[in-house]
Amino acid sequence: MFLQQATWPEVAAYLERSTGIVIPIGSTEQHGPTGLIGTDAICPETIATGMAESGLLVAPTLSIGMAQHHLGFPGSITLRPSTLLAVVRDVITSLAGQGFTHFYFLNGHGGNIATVNAAFAEVWAEASLSGQESGLAMKLGNWFAGPRVTALSRELYGEADGSHATASEISLTWYAHPEAERRDGLDPVRAPNGPIRDAIDYRKHFPDGRIGSEPHLATPEHGKRFYDAGLADALDDYRAFAGS
Ligand code: NI
Repeated sequence: MFLQQATWPEVAAYLERSTGIVIPIGSTEQHGPTGLIGTDAICPETIATGMAESGLLVAPTLSIGMAQHHLGFPGSITLRPSTLLAVVRDVITSLAGQGFTHFYFLNGHGGNIATVNAAFAEVWAEASLSGQESGLAMKLGNWFAGPRVTALSRELYGEADGSHATASEISLTWYAHPEAERRDGLDPVRAPNGPIRDAIDYRKHFPDGRIGSEPHLATPEHGKRFYDAGLADALDDYRAFAGS
């Protein structure tokens, strides 16, 4: 069930049988010359569609994340870490007031991880400092880091998957949006690796936006396999976290 397509009595009925919710979270940022700017939001949102079909409640995707290092490329948007932290905290506390207790953030962007975990700590600190028990459990699950997805990525691409604008994530976006497939030549074939700092430094070191990846290896057929693997990983992880 998608929250955006439910009525409040339907959400109230859901709360009678479950107090868990899935919240896809991504980013709006360049993904190299051939990857969609929405890649990091499209990937968890696509997998969350399967979670909704299996009966879980899925919130609207938080599509703008912490992507300051990508601002040197047109179309990228960032929230400051402090803004993203406030957004995540407000989403949790809005729903917690209605009886939700388990918040599973299905994430598509490495740059969100530190901030989202800090937001969880803020929510718990609020309770701890006021001497109350929050009764709340939060977890960040990265769709790209589950056991089936990482095994598939190793099998299909090995080291060539890299870490930004990867063939894995681009395959998944092409499965979701076959019309988005692009086959432009990439030079160099394998993008450079290195640390991430600010936006100007990033563009200097990663001139076409990719990090360590060879996204021309992506195909929509691979994307279907990443969808199946990512959904199985996410459902296992959700059930271990929130029960069934
Ligand atoms: Ni990405």
